[in-house]
Amino acid sequence: MRRPIIAGNWKMNKTVEDALDVAIGLKRKFYTFGEADIVICPPFTALSKVGDEISDSSIMLGAQDVYWEEEGAFTGEVSPKMLKDVRARYVIIGHSERRVLFGETDEAVNKKVKVVLRYGMIPIMCIGERLEERDNGTTYEVLEKQLTRGLKDIPKEDVGRIIIAYEPVWAIGTGRTATPREAQEAHKFIRDFIEKHFEKEASVKLRIQYGGSVKPDNIAKLMAEEDIDGALVGGASLDVNTFVQIVENSIL
Ligand code: PGA
Repeated sequence: MRRPIIAGNWKMNKTVEDALDVAIGLKRKFYTFGEADIVICPPFTALSKVGDEISDSSIMLGAQDVYWEEEGAFTGEVSPKMLKDVRARYVIIGHSERRVLFGETDEAVNKKVKVVLRYGMIPIMCIGERLEERDNGTTYEVLEKQLTRGLKDIPKEDVGRIIIAYEPVWAIGTGRTATPREAQEAHKFIRDFIEKHFEKEASVKLRIQYGGSVKPDNIAKLMAEEDIDGALVGGASLDVNTFVQIVENSIL
């Protein structure tokens, strides 16, 4: 049985104070919680304080991006060493907003996944097709390309540690979720890809999150699907009560 993992991606929202309010609220509810992994990914400015706040609880810290060098003249970037320093355990990589708005390539995603693994953190590698790609029937080609390039040269014993987030771009922040069946088909495709290109053991262990307009009222049906192991939640993770409900409904 794969352990469910629900992650909140706060994106470019929340001052340090607002981030702490949410962290404290979640901690009150999930101080000890054994039924799923809960990860919150505040903006860089709030990582350190939120990390301190949740360090004695079952909630884990994640970052929203990383650069692949350890240190140096890379203005504006944040290194894996710095993330490790603030006790981040997870790092979101290749989110569609980074790909679409900031030109992040599969090659950059691949370097980031490798460095995060090297630092003993867990990458959450995001993949997903755009609306026109779904409409013209190329969804699986797009996923295959993102997987092939994003996971290039990753040793097979490491692949099972990675989390893949399937996030159809047309479902992000739009209120339009993939149906549980659409999501399950994509998740199965991803698991089969890992079995074919790496090994069966890794594909069985691999946790695949769904992301895109996840809400308290649709999470249970998504999680009921065999290959959906969790969710990467954007907008609905910004409010304590809504995120608490999502976590609770995910393990129904
Ligand atoms: P959303 O975002 O839940 O607001 O659709 C999901 C994501 O971008 O990870």
